[in-house]
Amino acid sequence: VRLAFLIFPLLITACGGQEGEPRAVKAVSGDGGAGSALFNQVCSTCHEADGGGKRAVGAPAIANLAPWYVKRQLTHFRDGVRGAHAEDVEGQMMAEQARNLSDEQISAVASFIATLPACHGSDGLGNETLGAPALVGLDDWYLERQYGKFREGIRGSHPDDKFGVQMVRIAPVLENDDTLRDVIAWLASRSPKG
Ligand code: HEC
Repeated sequence: VRLAFLIFPLLITACGGQEGEPRAVKAVSGDGGAGSALFNQVCSTCHEADGGGKRAVGAPAIANLAPWYVKRQLTHFRDGVRGAHAEDVEGQMMAEQARNLSDEQISAVASFIATLPACHGSDGLGNETLGAPALVGLDDWYLERQYGKFREGIRGSHPDDKFGVQMVRIAPVLENDDTLRDVIAWLASRSPKG
């Protein structure tokens, strides 16, 4: 079940759409400060305005990352601790972005990223703006069956089902049935009240 803690954040942050696909949320209202300005002007080019990431440029979802972790990674990128290896093409791309950031800018943008929403919420209680329902409070057998349907394209393949389409797209992330059961067991162990 411990694994679910690693996989679940991955699932809920991977809610970004692909290029040209309708997105439930495009711009996210920010803190109005330096963090949001920097994010919207620079980071969103690759990581998207909702922090959902853009696979085409190799930029991962970062919306659900904790500020302390974002800070550490940005500092590492800036100082050549990460992304300096000659064969780390993506790391170099990111390091280039962090090169001129001050400690204050890093803190500000990390705090801003923490305000970005994740699809089903880090607590699994859902997010209406993104059209993502609560997963907590549902029966484990039902979650497993629905996930299977999304994975097989039995649910969510109708062109009018724009939310279902997003689940179909993300469903292959959990290709291993044991991992899927771990995630579901974790969700089933949570209380709907949070
Ligand atoms: C030119 C595209 C591009 C821009 C602009 C960009 N990034 Fe990145 N970012 C990437 C790529 C590619 C990676 C993956 C690097 C790797 O594979 O190691 C990455 C990785 C990261 C990571 C590490 C995620 C993790 O889980 O370890 C963080 C944090 C991050 N970026 C934050 C930012 C912030 C904040 C900004 C704005 C200041 C920004 N990025 C701007 C392309 C970009």
